[in-house]
Amino acid sequence: MPFAATGGLGDVMGSLPAAIKAADESTDIRVVMPLYRAIDESWREQMTEVATFHVWLSWRKLYCGVKSLCREGVTYYFIDNEYYFDREGLYGHYDDGERYAYFCMAVLEMLSHIDFFPDVLHAHDWQGALSIVYLDRFFRGRTGYEKIRTVYTIHNIEYQGHYDFSILYDVFGLGEEMHDILAYDGRINLMKGAIVCANLVSTVSPRYAEEIRSGEFAHRLEYIINDNAHKLRGILNGIDYVFYDPAHDGAIAHRFSAETAEEKVKNKTALQRELGLPEGEKIPMLAMISRLATHKGLDLVWQVADGLLATENFQLVVLGTGEERYERFFEELAHRFPDRVRALLRYDRTLSKRIYAAADLFVMPSRSEPCGLAQMIASRYGAIPVVRETGGLFDSIKGYYEEDGEPRGNGFTFAGYRADELYERILAALALYRQKEKWQALVTRVMRSDFSWSVSAQKYLAMYQEL
Ligand code: GLC
Repeated sequence: MPFAATGGLGDVMGSLPAAIKAADESTDIRVVMPLYRAIDESWREQMTEVATFHVWLSWRKLYCGVKSLCREGVTYYFIDNEYYFDREGLYGHYDDGERYAYFCMAVLEMLSHIDFFPDVLHAHDWQGALSIVYLDRFFRGRTGYEKIRTVYTIHNIEYQGHYDFSILYDVFGLGEEMHDILAYDGRINLMKGAIVCANLVSTVSPRYAEEIRSGEFAHRLEYIINDNAHKLRGILNGIDYVFYDPAHDGAIAHRFSAETAEEKVKNKTALQRELGLPEGEKIPMLAMISRLATHKGLDLVWQVADGLLATENFQLVVLGTGEERYERFFEELAHRFPDRVRALLRYDRTLSKRIYAAADLFVMPSRSEPCGLAQMIASRYGAIPVVRETGGLFDSIKGYYEEDGEPRGNGFTFAGYRADELYERILAALALYRQKEKWQALVTRVMRSDFSWSVSAQKYLAMYQEL
């Protein structure tokens, strides 16, 4: 963000570096990403070319151009290779392994060409994993590279980068000497390689750092996580408080803040109009904005949707793309309840803000959730989260209760991965919604939660210092 993004990782990389810079002006922080086709011309015009050179990947000699621009005190580099990155979408191509191997090699090679050797190299998810492996294998002996320390951040342990060993040399340029570092379950596992080689490993919430030590969450990597537990840290993500600010957001119909929370409802009627739903301030609106993937808890939603729609009066707006069966399910639901359900099967950031601003309840019953940003954005826009107590959802949302007539907590939560628990929490939320004063007090309270980067940026700095 803002150059190219498909999900939460894009948000984090768009806001964390600037937050670290703001927390300590003396930090020289630079971000490297591929020059994807999706990057808009208006950004390209601001870039300058800072280097061109060749990168060796196995037997391939490959062109690499490096473009650069500055934004909010952070230097961004874009790795230019049209063969790998001038394509539709960001990832999901048959040769992603080769594309990100090239990227990782290019990042390391680049350092000597721009004459900048960082104290810490911080790589993210499986796409960045090889940079840490390659640093140790190919670069340690070269001037400038000797002392670089490394952090590897897991944004989601489900996506590990699995490949067959037959391509170890041909695609990754590595020999048998790297077999033990990369081998897992008989295959190459890039995430495992980075966990083994990195000086520190972090993930995006304290709870998830605990959870991935168990088989229920680790997608088989629990053994490696436990072996490396001494290196593991959990730091909760924040969100960009300037980009996500209902008091100044040009994307929404009516701006509002915690002080004017009762104005929020105008966004609901505006969205109802936009989507052709019956207009009514009093009809509660539930929203889901999510990749339509199983781990987001969609099978639970599937189980409760009909029952809830049969007995309760509310509207449901779903935004996102993903697995076909869930796309079909929501489409079909919208077809059966044309006055109550909308299935918007796309990725649309601007529309997402109008939905956050309009919704009364935000449903996020994830089976696992490393951090989750949507519940934080929803809070900021006064949509009360209904979440399952897992990962970052557990760390950020506490269940509602009353103390001396005052609201406590900042959402509705349930523990078991069970449809009846989700069902019951939605009913409880709808019951509170009908008590207008209590609901308003909760909305105001939730809007005042602090999900900015200020605390977590300090924690990243402390981790870098530790290294
Ligand atoms: C991934 C995780 C999500 C997290 C995001 C940013 O998308 O699934 O939980 O918030 O990365 O770290």
